[in-house]
Amino acid sequence: MPTIFLTGGSGYIGTHTCLTLLNAGFNVIVLDSNINSKKRALKKVLEIYKLSSFNFKNQLFFVEGDIRNENLINEIFEKAKNKKMPINAVLHLAGLKSVRESINNPLEYWDVNVGGSIKLFRCMIKHNCHTIVFSSSATIYGIQEIEDSIKEDGSINPINPYGENKVTIEKILKNIFDGSKENWRIANLRYFNPIGAHSSGLIGEEPRGIPNNIFPYICEVGSGRIDKLQIFGRDWPTRDGTCIRDYIHVMDLAEAHKSALDYLNKKDSEFINLNIGTGIGTSVLELVKTFIKVNECNLNYEFAERREGDSYHLVANNELALQTLNWKPQKNLEDMCRDGWQWQKFNKEFLENTSSINLQKLI
Ligand code: NAD
Ligand code: UD1
Repeated sequence: MPTIFLTGGSGYIGTHTCLTLLNAGFNVIVLDSNINSKKRALKKVLEIYKLSSFNFKNQLFFVEGDIRNENLINEIFEKAKNKKMPINAVLHLAGLKSVRESINNPLEYWDVNVGGSIKLFRCMIKHNCHTIVFSSSATIYGIQEIEDSIKEDGSINPINPYGENKVTIEKILKNIFDGSKENWRIANLRYFNPIGAHSSGLIGEEPRGIPNNIFPYICEVGSGRIDKLQIFGRDWPTRDGTCIRDYIHVMDLAEAHKSALDYLNKKDSEFINLNIGTGIGTSVLELVKTFIKVNECNLNYEFAERREGDSYHLVANNELALQTLNWKPQKNLEDMCRDGWQWQKFNKEFLENTSSINLQKLI
């Protein structure tokens, strides 16, 4: 079975992707510093996975460490080789992701996101691993003034350090692809707005402190931990005056990673940028109303000023991903709201439940 090195695998998207990879039969080595995640998240992944596999403990290995630790990454590649499970491909999700923090602390963001990526790529070269799927973001398109969906060749115009980091990493990967004597296979997945959770309610998004993004914020309001949701702007040129986004279920996003790996494995050489969204625009009000309807709960909300730096319409043109990846989002907005809320309820009740499962160490 191929072995995948999954950086940032304890995080929100990482845990769901890890589960998808295990279900597909891959061996997975996770590196995560747990700066924005909990160790128990991967144990919960195994709790879900054990229902479908007897051998559930032997496919997943966890290394706690920093992506900037080049010696450690080299050691991971070597240990994997010694265990007769050499790393075939990397899914690079590790990084810092708060727009606000990136403005307040740009050096840390450049160091972790870009500096860490460079170290990882150097180790890949050293160990002859030339296949990578990178977590990029729709944030690189910046403020859009168009109502069409965005294609991959649309204008790239990041407006904060986090977005600049993502563009820079994409460029570094392109330089490696263009300049290397080896054949590289590289896919930059530009995620739109991942929300929701695995339907078991055992894994999901666990933001630190007060969330910035809309969906975890809605969940906090729904559970009474925050009093009210502020909807930023009601006078945008959209059908109900609120901003439109392309929300995608995190399990569909996880599947896209597996499909990207399958796609790259069939190629000798490839560099591709792919928008990963549903292609469907949903307004903030539509999201709020769907959440209330599906979950039969109350949500206090009020309208507030527009948020600085917002685009009023950000929707993926996902045709390229649909054509190339043999992938299609399966879940709708109702599923996203239901599963996300299920996680929120479980999370609240069972958060501190420790798991009897121990994660296997590679090192
Ligand atoms: P997350 O914070 O839940 O996961 C990222 C993981 O990386 C965390 O577990 C964190 O502990 C780990 N990490 C951070 N710094 C590290 C370091 N120096 N060394 C090792 N591990 C480190 O975030 P997520 O939502 O799962 O995002 C995963 C990736 O997808 C990130 O690169 C993010 O920028 C990108 N992305 C996320 C979104 C989104 O809306 N969630 C949208 C577009 C792109
Ligand atoms: C934001 C970031 C983007 C980042 C993405 C994922 C900005 C300007 N953009 O994108 O760079 O890649 O998160 O981390 O910060 N909203 C409310 N009330 C809230 C929160 C949000 O009305 O309390 C609205 C926003 O105005 C927006 C929509 O909900 O219209 C979605 O917001 P959010 O979840 O922050 O995602 P993005 O704006 O797409």
